[in-house]
Amino acid sequence: MNMTHSFTPQPTDDGSFTFYSPEFEEAFHSDYGAKQEAIYKFVKPCLLAEKAGRQSTITLLDICYGLGYNSAAAIATIWAANPHCFIELIALESDLRVPQAAIAQGLLTTKFPTILTILQQFARTQQVKTQNINAFLMINDARVSIQNLRQQHLKADAIFLDPFSPPKCPQLWTVEFMQQVAACLKPDGRLATYSCASAVRSALAETGLYFGSSIAMGRKTPGTVASWRSDEIPPLSGREREHLQTVAATPYRDRTLEATATTIKQQRRTEQKQSDREPTRAWKKRWHKR
Ligand SMILES: C[S@@+](CC[C@H](N)C(=O)[O-])C[C@H]1O[C@@H](n2cnc3c(N)ncnc32)[C@H](O)[C@@H]1O
Repeated sequence: MNMTHSFTPQPTDDGSFTFYSPEFEEAFHSDYGAKQEAIYKFVKPCLLAEKAGRQSTITLLDICYGLGYNSAAAIATIWAANPHCFIELIALESDLRVPQAAIAQGLLTTKFPTILTILQQFARTQQVKTQNINAFLMINDARVSIQNLRQQHLKADAIFLDPFSPPKCPQLWTVEFMQQVAACLKPDGRLATYSCASAVRSALAETGLYFGSSIAMGRKTPGTVASWRSDEIPPLSGREREHLQTVAATPYRDRTLEATATTIKQQRRTEQKQSDREPTRAWKKRWHKR
């Protein structure tokens, strides 16, 4: 992969920058704004300010660290609510060049110089330990890292799940991957993702987590927030519940946690062909009329 071509910054609507990935043929963030997305799709649904107000330590698992926007927003929110809160940050990323390019190009900005210094060092050395943060960047396929974390009995207060979209990176949206991720969530923890795809939600359903929609930004679709506690989660609408009964909700599967994206997508198409779920077309037609 050509470094310069791979990591050309692109502006988003809130003034922050994203990268475009030629490998995944997708931008790292929505046009709406990389920083806005970090706050509304990840930090707020995970109730980090509220948790920081009550807890002296917060453990955060940031899956697909990328440029580091989600972690930066999380740290800023936690310390604004409680400057003494100790943060355990475990970040998973497959390509170290991404956070390093974000730092080198000055894209990761925050109001707090301490946080910037921490994240600069983090991208350089993949590990930072200070009086109030212990951060570790695991550079590997997240499917490998998550199995190691599960074996180490990691339990996170908040999990950010931010891979490229399901059609581009199905390996990080499968039932089996979600099961590993769910096992790393504390009983009162929260998992947040930007996706509201029914295939993603049905994979979450197979883990036993309860889930609902997070806040929609502008006229965009909402994300998803999940928890072990049903009383914690906003109920799904009738439209959303019925969507989960359709062919579109057939989840991605990867029993070995090693399959290629092509194989995972092919197997899902086969499962969809054999499925007796309602055609998604019929659902669309029904809900379009209302
Ligand atoms: C949508 S971007 C994440 C953006 C990021 N959360 C941020 O705040 O900038 C997806 C990231 O997932 C990484 N990635 C792709 N496949 C991966 C894999 N199998 N395991 C771990 N990370 C992966 C990409 O390198 C990319 O940085």
